[in-house]
Amino acid sequence: MCYLQNQYPESRYAKLIRRLNEVSPKDGWFTEHYGGDRNGGSALQPSGLKKPWQIHNTRKLDGIRHEIDRLALSPLERAVALSSLILALDRVDNTIGHFVFYLNTWSARSYNDLVLEVPKVFVTDRPNEVTRKDVFDICGADVDLAYFDPPYGSNNEKMPPSHVRYASYYHLWTTVCLNDCPDLFGKAKRCCDSSDRIAGSVFEEFKSNERSGRFLAVEALERLIKATSARWVILSYSSGGRGTAEDINRVLTECGTLVDVVKLDYQRNVMAGMKWTHEWLCKTESPHHEFLFLIDKS
Ligand SMILES: C[S@@+](CC[C@H](N)C(=O)[O-])C[C@H]1O[C@@H](n2cnc3c(N)ncnc32)[C@H](O)[C@@H]1O
Repeated sequence: MCYLQNQYPESRYAKLIRRLNEVSPKDGWFTEHYGGDRNGGSALQPSGLKKPWQIHNTRKLDGIRHEIDRLALSPLERAVALSSLILALDRVDNTIGHFVFYLNTWSARSYNDLVLEVPKVFVTDRPNEVTRKDVFDICGADVDLAYFDPPYGSNNEKMPPSHVRYASYYHLWTTVCLNDCPDLFGKAKRCCDSSDRIAGSVFEEFKSNERSGRFLAVEALERLIKATSARWVILSYSSGGRGTAEDINRVLTECGTLVDVVKLDYQRNVMAGMKWTHEWLCKTESPHHEFLFLIDKS
């Protein structure tokens, strides 16, 4: 919403963000559960738990999050404030990007102060809609192009399925948005809603369909693309995902014509076009790569 429904220039939010930066730090729920002392460089606390932020920053988080709820913000201002807070927390965290476990030694950035900045918003005059519905409930929408970026699951049989779920990776961002002080469990203090029993997505399903022998996650992808009304579909998928290259290729060819494939190399931050569309099948070797597939369903 912060980006897709914004109608104002960045300057419109400068006062709000300045005000949030000036809020007094305080001890609150986030500090109690996620704030750690420096301990001469070790993020391991006397409790035996490692922490995702240093305490000076969770105290700011507690103050700012309380202030966001206290201010009478419009839904758009609230979205901008929360996005700004999440981006700022990300800049000072002690993680490798998710919240399933935390680093042993405080990261260099975790010593910095939490400072909010106005997100790089752009003005849109389009009546964009933002929704959090299940994708199967909205894939019939009347649009030209549907872009799907589903969770990939993992093809690493040794990794517990719970460790590759988005809900467990990013539970803390959900908690920052909701500010609902959820019940927590485990060493990383995950919110209870991100537990294995509750938070799975069919796209992360590890099991196979007993009758067809195909992965349930792959069958779900096929069902989704077939049910999609849009003529053009872009699907992103990782070569380290649950479905093998052959599985995904079968889905793509069953659902329409594969028009183009782009391979993304995050380390080098480049995109490579494929000379011929099925070339990607030979390019799925380690390390994992992400592919964008353009499918014409007509
Ligand atoms: C790879 S992430 C997408 C990340 C996104 N492109 C971004 O840049 O933030 C996969 C997302 O799909 C969502 N998801 C999983 N199953 C879903 C479903 N059935 N309906 C809607 N969203 C779903 C997950 O919650 C997760 O946010």
